[in-house]
Amino acid sequence: MAATRPRPDPFRAARLAPSVVEAARIAGYDVAMTDTTDVAALRISGLVRHFGAKVAVDHLDLVIPRGEFHALLGPNGAGKTTTLRIVAGLLKAEFGSVQILGHDIATAPTQAKQVLAFLPDDPLLYGKLRPVEYLEFVAGLWGIEPALAAPRAEELLRWLDLWDHTRELVEGFSRGMRQKLALAGALIHDPQVLILDEPLTGLDAAAARQVKDLLLARVRRGHTVVLTTHILEVAERLAQRISIIQRGRIIAQGTLDELRAAAATRGGADATLEDVFLQLTGSAA
Ligand SMILES: Nc1ncnc2c1ncn2[C@@H]1O[C@H](COP(=O)(O)OP(=O)(O)O)[C@@H](O)[C@H]1O
Ligand SMILES: [Mg+2]
Repeated sequence: MAATRPRPDPFRAARLAPSVVEAARIAGYDVAMTDTTDVAALRISGLVRHFGAKVAVDHLDLVIPRGEFHALLGPNGAGKTTTLRIVAGLLKAEFGSVQILGHDIATAPTQAKQVLAFLPDDPLLYGKLRPVEYLEFVAGLWGIEPALAAPRAEELLRWLDLWDHTRELVEGFSRGMRQKLALAGALIHDPQVLILDEPLTGLDAAAARQVKDLLLARVRRGHTVVLTTHILEVAERLAQRISIIQRGRIIAQGTLDELRAAAATRGGADATLEDVFLQLTGSAA
């Protein structure tokens, strides 16, 4: 005989659980889920993209396991932004494929985008909204119930030290505050794979710390972070693995120690990531 248990309040479950699926499970719903244990967070295969005659992404392959903090480094114009825009479904590749947690961005874009956050390097915000209104608006686009969106919005705004600015219009926000709000918007649907294009550029030390702490907290939950950065120290201190992109290809990949070995720089074991980066990209003095 099946015991009848009172079903927990779904909104309380939503506040307790790290994801929508978990919340639904706690609330007693029968959530059908494929076992994605060994599916890569991100799998890019043979990606090619030109602009006119110029090749921006040149047969790029990249596999990032779930739960990894991965940094993409490369000189200006290396193809990082183009790659990430293809991953996010904003730009089409000529060849190759992108899968996010097994969902193909070209053939299953809705499923892929559901598990993906993308923070572009030039995020667009609506100046006439206040931060909570903006986050509720984005949550609405995802079909998230206001009762689920509100506590998430508050948590994100507190993490990013924007909670004291909830009465202000976004148009009065500084560049750093806008960037943090855009990040909160990218995370409001609680995606497992976070793709961020230069998320720390232009942030002051305090804001950069808040963003780094938020991303690290996500990785501790088992989420995956892939970011580009010009700040090599960020890659050095936060990333478990690093890929170096040059002329649309990955020319080196690994942990900092593995990259040091690959570069065989004069600095040896004490080489900084900057030494390694300049050596591998051929820009060393
Ligand atoms: N919309 C575009 N139209 C024409 N060329 C572009 C466009 N976007 C990028 N490119 C070119 O593609 C190459 C890679 O650019 P990008 O992906 O932005 O590099 P990164 O982000 O690594 O600096 C560059 O040569 C850039 O000029
Ligand atoms: Mg770029």
